[in-house]
Amino acid sequence: MTTPEASTAQSGPVPPADRLLDVEGLEIQFVTDLGWTTVVEDVSFSLSAGETLGLVGESGSGKTVTSLSLMGLIPSPPGRVSKGSIRLEGRELVGMSQRKLNAIRGEEIAMIFQEPMTSLNPAFKVGDQIAETYRRHRRVSRKEAARQAVRVLDKVGIPNAERRARSYPHEFSGGMRQRAMIAMALVCDPKVVVADEPTTALDVTIQAQVLELMGWMRDELDMALIFVTHDLGVVADICDRVVVMYAGQIVEEASIRDLYYQPQHPYSSALLAAMPQQVSRTQSTELASIPGSPPAPGTFPVGCRFHPRCEYARDKCTQGEIGDLIRLRELSNGQTSRCVRVDEIELQGAR
Ligand SMILES: Nc1ncnc2c1ncn2[C@@H]1O[C@H](COP(=O)(O)OP(=O)(O)OP(=O)(O)O)[C@@H](O)[C@H]1O
Ligand code: SF4
Ligand SMILES: [Mg+2]
Repeated sequence: MTTPEASTAQSGPVPPADRLLDVEGLEIQFVTDLGWTTVVEDVSFSLSAGETLGLVGESGSGKTVTSLSLMGLIPSPPGRVSKGSIRLEGRELVGMSQRKLNAIRGEEIAMIFQEPMTSLNPAFKVGDQIAETYRRHRRVSRKEAARQAVRVLDKVGIPNAERRARSYPHEFSGGMRQRAMIAMALVCDPKVVVADEPTTALDVTIQAQVLELMGWMRDELDMALIFVTHDLGVVADICDRVVVMYAGQIVEEASIRDLYYQPQHPYSSALLAAMPQQVSRTQSTELASIPGSPPAPGTFPVGCRFHPRCEYARDKCTQGEIGDLIRLRELSNGQTSRCVRVDEIELQGAR
């Protein structure tokens, strides 16, 4: 694991002029047996050019749903963005027509999924699929689009890119397919790339190579990256700032360094304590061993949603501050925490 000292990022609000993406008060609902059920609530964060923001939390915390909403990809029905705003360079994406969203998707904001076959069609050659994505956004000849496809395949480290562009997805190994999907995301030079657990399905060696590639994207192509993961080791390697999600809410936002050495929410501290001591790029560091399990949507407790699992819980933690919710507090260094006892408790960081 790269030590968090290497990060120069500061907590605190990003100056508005540099902001690419502004998410404010996002709420997402799905129809379930209980009717419209809120799965993501009161989510706000921003992203500036060249920055990498980690989105971390246990399974079901709302990372994928939040990521999909940035691309206008919440399936409707059964889902909807029921409140809030997502602005890309000032343009509101919530409520935008599908035609306009199609023009933005891939061109300005692109997504890399955990499973490459979500993006790659098994029936078409890899190069043709990437070229097609390029032609959807640029008025160029087929020949030029094919050239661009080979260019990005080469860029992401596919050997013999010209020949491999003529292969079908099943002729690629898992790691190569993931690289091809990254190439597809990069072909139009988007400003923002959202990567949802892009390395989870890969074996550890390939995982390390793909992470290196993502780091290169961030550094050389100056792209803003949202990196969704379970893995705090990966977060330390690649991210500047991190948003920790629990039960559909952000519970803490901090620079990597602050999160690791002075977490300000008991959930973040518990995640750090659950992390193996020696973490490296070749080890998987699943968030596993916090006792208990997160509540399902529709059963979120009033007040702090973490209170049934929190060793610091007191009566005041079980009361809402805004309706049923605890508000997110901004601390003096710009770090934020959704803990009512943040000033009373001393939390342990990474050991
Ligand atoms: N189509 C859907 N219909 C109903 N509920 C959904 C749907 N998609 C997601 N959800 C619910 O939204 C919540 C958040 O799911 P999400 O997939 O965003 O979690 P996640 O943090 O990405 O988890 P994981 O780490 O397992 O990928 C979950 O409780 C999930 O059950
Ligand atoms: S608000 Fe209370 S229950 Fe929630 S994290 Fe803080 S101390 Fe724990
Ligand atoms: Mg997910």
